Parts: sequence; C-alpha cells; structure tokens
Amino acid sequence: MKGSEIRERFLKYFEGKGHRRMRSSSLVPEADPTLLFTNAGMVQFKNVFTGDEKLDFVRAVSSQKCLRVSGKHNDLENVGVTARHHTFFEMLGNFSFGDYFKEDAIFFGWEFLTKEMGLDKEKLWITIFDEDDEADEIWKTKIGVDPERIVRMGEKDNFWAMGDTGPCGPCSEIHIDQGEEMSCGKNCGIGLCDCDRYLELWNLVFMQFNRDQSGEMTPLPAPSIDTGMGLERIAAVVQGVKSNYDSDLFTPIIKTVEEIAGISNKDDKSGVSIRAISDHCRSQAFLIADGILPSNEGRGYVLRRIIGRAARH
Ligand code: GLY
Repeated sequence: MKGSEIRERFLKYFEGKGHRRMRSSSLVPEADPTLLFTNAGMVQFKNVFTGDEKLDFVRAVSSQKCLRVSGKHNDLENVGVTARHHTFFEMLGNFSFGDYFKEDAIFFGWEFLTKEMGLDKEKLWITIFDEDDEADEIWKTKIGVDPERIVRMGEKDNFWAMGDTGPCGPCSEIHIDQGEEMSCGKNCGIGLCDCDRYLELWNLVFMQFNRDQSGEMTPLPAPSIDTGMGLERIAAVVQGVKSNYDSDLFTPIIKTVEEIAGISNKDDKSGVSIRAISDHCRSQAFLIADGILPSNEGRGYVLRRIIGRAARH
C-alpha cells in the first residue's frame, strides 16, 4: 500500500465514523504567537478545544503538515540518525471536540491498525499515563490487549502538550515491536532505550486541560480527543521496511540524492547525510510553499539553518 493510499484510507475510515475531513493548515500557525511552526494536527483546533471557537461539527480528521525543529517538539538532531525522526512530516489525526472520549478513541485506533492496516495484534504494545486506570481497563477488558504489553509511564512520556501553554492531557501510545533484530541490546524496551525496535506509531491524547503561562492547568469545557500518527512511520510499517527512508514517501528523493552524490544511503559513514539531505529537502520545499523565505530572524532563520545544514551534509 502506497503512502498516498494509507493517507486516503485513514481519512475515509474516520469519515465513515462521522468525522469531517479537514484540509491541512499551513506550517505557519494562524494567529498563534506561541508557536513558530505547526507541530501537530491539533494546532488548527486549539481554540476549539479551549472553547474559544465553535464549529458546527464535533468530529474532525486530517493529514496535517508538521515541522518539529524548534520549541517543545524538536527532532532536528535525530534526523537521519534514527529511522523515524524528521523535520517535516505528515500527521494523521482524528479529533473529538467534547464528543467521544477514551473508549471510542482507543477502539478506532485499534480497529484502524489491526483491521484496515492488517497489523499483527501480538506485535502492538501500549503505553498509558501512570495514573490512568481507566485507559488501562479499556485496553485490557474492551480491546483484549495482554496486560504484559501495557506499560505505565510518567508525565515526560505520557502527558502530551502542544507547547508550554495550551490544551494538554494524559495520552496512550500504540507502539509496534519491529523484532529482535532491531534491538539495541540487553536493556532494550519501551521507556528503557531510544532505539527503533519499539516504534511509537500513534499517540492518543485525552485532552482535558488548558495550561496557562504560570503553569496552572484548568479543565477544558469538555473532555476531548486529539490523536497523531506519523504517515511516514505507518507507511514504513505497512510496506514492511524498517526505516521511513525506505518507504515510498522517501525513496524517490533518496534515489535522486544518491545519484547526485554517488553514495548509497546504506553506506555507514555517509548514509546519515543522504537521509538528512532528503529530509531537509522536504522541509525546505514545504516551508517555501507556505510562504517562508530564508532570512536572519524568526521562521526565515530556521529555514536558512535547515538549508545550511543540508548543504553541510
Ligand atoms: N497531538 C498528538 C501528538 O502530536 O502526538
């Protein structure tokens, strides 16, 4: 299944569950001074979660252009080194604005991965927030996940926030075990290491609070859902390759870079560079398409740095 088919299957699946299909918003968040770039699918819905904006629908689905090169979510130094990090990527997400909550969000996520994408249930691992007994119960009794594959984690891993302020809440992640051959060694495991064996596929955020500048959290008008799954990751998994860079979303770019450089991306020494250049080409293209030009400050400076970094590689 090609990346474009997976994107379409995702959007269609959630449309079938009553979600409104929304266009990706720009990489430049509209009227949000707290963010340099759109870093998640929920950004265009931030004011809907807080109750400051009303929509005439309560369920949405999107494939959102995201950039994670600054602020709270910054993956820059991992790009090309791991098989899964990017500056620019697409985030598939479904959203509930005070409508369904944990149980449906978990059911939808599980059904999409195991039925629509045909992933092996036994390879899926779940993380939940330490105190979230409700999610634990749903995964165990309603979905039937083996308790051995449910891992409780602290705030750092399982409490999601867009930035220092804004909507936030506990989350539950679906990971896939990519097999022992991907293991980094004895201490390999969810929360124990950062290797590519247990790949986080999908983050289901149970949006419940709004954090203000002093750090104080107040409850949202209604519990809501915000989920995010990297299209590049699910594409690699469905296509049976161990790196996002080997999925069809990247191979044409990688191939071109390899041809120009005369070096393979599988080369131990230069592979990281080939992959970083390929990643950075995408973020440059999408930033420029969304109206950013290289400059000495703000967003333009970030673009300039990405171009410089790619050139150095
Ligand atoms: N908004 C959910 C995520 O980015 O993981």
